[in-house]
Amino acid sequence: MSVKNAMTAEFLRSAYGGESMAHMRYLGWADKADKEGLPKIAQAVPGRRLRRAGARHKPFRRAERGRGRRMSLTAGAFFGMKDTAENLIGAIAGEEHEVDQMYPVYYETAKFQGEKDAMRTFHFALEAEKLHAGFFRQAREKALGKKDMEFEAMYICPVCGHTVADEAPDKCPVCGVAKEKYVRF
Ligand SMILES: [Fe+2]
Repeated sequence: MSVKNAMTAEFLRSAYGGESMAHMRYLGWADKADKEGLPKIAQAVPGRRLRRAGARHKPFRRAERGRGRRMSLTAGAFFGMKDTAENLIGAIAGEEHEVDQMYPVYYETAKFQGEKDAMRTFHFALEAEKLHAGFFRQAREKALGKKDMEFEAMYICPVCGHTVADEAPDKCPVCGVAKEKYVRF
């Protein structure tokens, strides 16, 4: 299915580009957390788990078949490598930018333009990013005390990206997918 309106298509490409850029940034920060002896924090950084849940990026790619070619990217995070507690400030800022500004604006634009698939994509992304921001805040508290996070495993919904620690819910609260479909990592 293609996207009809140029602005929604541009926002889908922008989101895809921004998420891809964040993915690379998080991979580096996860390696740094590993080196600091914080493997659980490294595991909680979404770059690694998104590799396992590539499905989340599929709706964004749909926009590549849409009209228009332009793509502008904004990132709330900083670039570069510091220690984990500091890197997490960048991660939190990046997620907050997505939650407070980027996805709500993209969602409203898609709604205004009657782009139902894009609305769904932006809604899923917004809900997942809220959770990421929460994980990062917890991780930062721990990293400041030179402690690692404590969870047995993380579970991610392969459809919408909903992420929980320790146990998957019976049904995804965002998209309704069954517990058995969650990917453990
Ligand atoms: Fe879901």
